[in-house]
Amino acid sequence: MTFLALSSGGRNLLSRRNLMKWGLCGFGAALLTTVPKTVMAQVGAKTLTFSADDVGILNFALLLEELEAAFYPAALSSGKITSPREIDYLRAIGNHEAAHVKFLRQVLGSNVLFQTADLSLNQAGLSALISDRSKILNTAVILEDLGVHAYNGAGPSLTNPTYLLAAGSIVSVEGRHAAGVRSLLNRPATEADSERLVRDTNLNAELNPVKGQAYDELYTPRQVVEAVGSFKILDNPINGSLVA
Ligand SMILES: [Fe+2]
Ligand SMILES: [Fe+2]
Repeated sequence: MTFLALSSGGRNLLSRRNLMKWGLCGFGAALLTTVPKTVMAQVGAKTLTFSADDVGILNFALLLEELEAAFYPAALSSGKITSPREIDYLRAIGNHEAAHVKFLRQVLGSNVLFQTADLSLNQAGLSALISDRSKILNTAVILEDLGVHAYNGAGPSLTNPTYLLAAGSIVSVEGRHAAGVRSLLNRPATEADSERLVRDTNLNAELNPVKGQAYDELYTPRQVVEAVGSFKILDNPINGSLVA
């Protein structure tokens, strides 16, 4: 399917300059050296296989929501966020993510490919992302902005209107999450080109006919799964035609 076509060989999909700028150089390091066909393989962890169709796409969205839903409680439990305002905000976002998980599971019904308990979180990877306030908030920004790129990128491929409605009702909330956390960091509300994990030259041209700050760029599922792998918080192998 055309939406899976990558405009690059996979190298340099993530901007090292951007990752360094926000103190998150661990992100994307694997991508800069290799393109994994299976992400974060771990013996014993359930393999997540996503097909290049509506069911695969929405299950992949569910995975992103699961990761977000796992991140915020862990961030709050770290004790590194001490401002009442920031605690309240991250707690609210975490509640939204839990609601997104529940909603997508309801929409998918019997088409759900995995349960929350099937996910094998990498505790070391997670700990590295919640070691201080800056890491937590900047990771949240990356996660939320990635969600926007991912939902928008999957949208054109969805054919089931119920799935499309579900995705559309979530993506705008992810955008608000990103802007909200950005404000906590006194960062601009919108993502600059230089901050994006996927560089302009690696954007899929078919998915991105318009460019500029007035628009959100669309990532292919493969670009998203590579970005997810760069977080190093999931040990489940990921494969399937959606991300091949
Ligand atoms: Fe979400
Ligand atoms: Fe979110």
